[in-house]
Amino acid sequence: MIVTVINQKGGVGKTTTAVNLAYVLSKSKNVALVDMDPEGGTSFSFGIRRDRREYPLGGKSINIFGVEVFPAHLGLLKLELSGEVEEIVNAIRKLAESFEVTVVDTPPNLGTLAVASMIAADRIVSPVTPQPLAIEAVRNLDSRLQSLGKGAVAFTNMSKRALEVELRSVKFLRLSVPQSRLFTESSRLGVPASRYEEVRLKRPKVTRVYEELAKVITE
Ligand SMILES: Nc1ncnc2c1ncn2[C@@H]1O[C@H](COP(=O)(O)OP(=O)(O)O)[C@@H](O)[C@H]1O
Ligand SMILES: [Mg+2]
Repeated sequence: MIVTVINQKGGVGKTTTAVNLAYVLSKSKNVALVDMDPEGGTSFSFGIRRDRREYPLGGKSINIFGVEVFPAHLGLLKLELSGEVEEIVNAIRKLAESFEVTVVDTPPNLGTLAVASMIAADRIVSPVTPQPLAIEAVRNLDSRLQSLGKGAVAFTNMSKRALEVELRSVKFLRLSVPQSRLFTESSRLGVPASRYEEVRLKRPKVTRVYEELAKVITE
């Protein structure tokens, strides 16, 4: 199963979602996490430095905390500018054959890499923050999904209350991740917040929400 995390707005929590979903899912499943954002946020969240070399898609991976991470690399920039959507879709699907769940993090736009990641997906999940621009972005995503004949689920990030927005192809879950310093602290250390909680805190605060999200997405 391929799970793509998408929202063309930056800073809404795509990378945070991809990283934590992959980590909680890896407790019971064989999980890959593919960084399709040339900026490499997912790779960084797992403590992986930027790689200046080029690889084919799926050409290099490292197992960290039980998740098979496919880090960002220079080749992604070329694919973004001159890659064929179909070729990228096939490469993602090929890579995903070796895993029960493949989580894909995408760049903050609807360019070639993001569109290919959406087409390859069996499930699409979109984090949305309670800001007008983020909601506008998910409305655009909704029209894009309609033209692709696909559906997505959305949840609210950085808020105590879940947003309620009626759209055709994006279903808003009654699920929200509150604002927490835990995310910045853990990402600075290069570990997913859910991993950080497991090691450092007696009582988890956010892991439960990602477990719930993982359950909704994979059921
Ligand atoms: N619920 C949250 N509370 C506080 N900070 C968060 C939360 N979710 C994400 N962040 C932080 O917000 C920033 C942007 O998140 P990120 O996942 O990188 O967004 P995107 O991938 O959509 O650009 C990061 O520094 C991340 O640690
Ligand atoms: Mg990101």
